[in-house]
Amino acid sequence: MTEKDYSKYFQTPNLNLARRRTREGAQKIDFVMPANLGKIGRNKKFYIDTYGCQMNVHDSEVIAGILSELGYTPTENENDADVIILNTCAIRENAENRVFGELGRLKALKLQNPDLILGVCGCMSQEEKVVNTLLQKYQHVDIIFGTHNIHRLPEYLRDAYYNKERVVEVWSHEGDIVEHMPVLRQGKIKAWVNIMYGCDEFCTYCIVPYTRGKERSRYPEDILAEIEQLAKEGYQEITLLGQNVNAYGKDFKDREYGFGDLLKVIQKINIPRVRFTTSHPRDFDQKMIDALANRGNLCEHVHLPVQSGNNEILRKMNRKYTREEYLELVRELRKAIPDVAITTDIIVGFPGETEEQFQDTLSLVDEADFEGAFTFIFSPREGTPAAKFPDNVTEEEKHDRLQRLNQKINEKFLAAHKKYEGKIVEVLCEGPSKNDETILAGYTRTNKLVNFKGDHNNIGKLVKVRITEGKTWHLLGEEVNE
Ligand code: 5AD
Ligand code: SF4
Repeated sequence: MTEKDYSKYFQTPNLNLARRRTREGAQKIDFVMPANLGKIGRNKKFYIDTYGCQMNVHDSEVIAGILSELGYTPTENENDADVIILNTCAIRENAENRVFGELGRLKALKLQNPDLILGVCGCMSQEEKVVNTLLQKYQHVDIIFGTHNIHRLPEYLRDAYYNKERVVEVWSHEGDIVEHMPVLRQGKIKAWVNIMYGCDEFCTYCIVPYTRGKERSRYPEDILAEIEQLAKEGYQEITLLGQNVNAYGKDFKDREYGFGDLLKVIQKINIPRVRFTTSHPRDFDQKMIDALANRGNLCEHVHLPVQSGNNEILRKMNRKYTREEYLELVRELRKAIPDVAITTDIIVGFPGETEEQFQDTLSLVDEADFEGAFTFIFSPREGTPAAKFPDNVTEEEKHDRLQRLNQKINEKFLAAHKKYEGKIVEVLCEGPSKNDETILAGYTRTNKLVNFKGDHNNIGKLVKVRITEGKTWHLLGEEVNE
């Protein structure tokens, strides 16, 4: 391969460029497999290591779909793999450190098997600092691509094989919406469905608007066709994915159509359960609440990240709502859907957070009565505004706050779960539990994990379970035949 050919690929990211938003709407294109590739993966195996959120989990299903079309087969054992892809997450520093650790470990595998192709993709690839480190210190990585160009993986593999060159192509700006990508789904019971890509919120701590680009919604007709197909294939549950699903449709130039409209149509599709994640409190409107109140296949669970209970911190985070507005939304949701389970994300130790401000978060947890929460210590992300905010909170204090918050949350979960005891709930039976093959596991409509004694023939079905004990993290029960 000539230098010139190689340079056509060599493209590294730039977070400053990624911040910019253009006015143009997203174009839609269809995935096309390059004709001249044949089955370059015949007799070869792939292994994908996925970090981070559900969006990444689903992207890995697309990567697996592309690799399968090229003739590769999946393996659970990285030692057997001819291609290893690390689909990375940039949301916090510890997620990044895990990936670097893993890459260091994989160097030995690459030395043993020089034909192994090692690829890095996902949100970390979108950061110039990471790509520079990979180029300098991790020269055993063969392919680096980003979140916007997964569909070009066949070309990257071809060039890595035939030209034995490093392939680096990361786009700073989002590209088109690519429809009809091949997907190798991880299961036959639950499926992920992307409804939009990117985020325009720019919360000051968050790297996602830079790594995932501007908000782009898939057309409802494409989403509905995918869901109809999943229903035909017998899937029991789908989760609609977007960084901020409530902003769905705001980018359409040719129609007035929002998330509430989409939910109302999906409610008519014959699939037993529909979930969605993640919601931004500011964009949650009455149409969406009405759709949820109509129930049907729409599950009684809303993941509604609050991040903090203090107005000054919320302002510094650029969350665009107050504590009072958030609690009002929680009240409205509970009025419309009395048994709704509301879960949340909370960050402690945001730069300059005082003990009083942290106390506001604790009291909000009491008032909101969350049924689940992911809690994090603020992690400065280079390129985001909050990384430069003055911070006088010590590491020790941040850890102490996280511990106090978790303790409160855990007590509340246990109390909420105790209330389930004696009740009969609907569970989607997913299979044997991880720790005990004789026990089954599944989730309620409110997204509670239930481990229960029952009939293994009912795997993949909705069953009724009587709850015998509420634990902090899950419920125990027995299947009932009514
Ligand atoms: N530090 C800590 N937590 C973060 N999150 C996003 N960015 C950061 C950061 N820089 C959390 C938020 C978000 C969840 C997905 O991750 O709570 O809702
Ligand atoms: Fe990040 Fe805020 Fe967008 Fe969520 S809404 S992805 S926290 S910027």
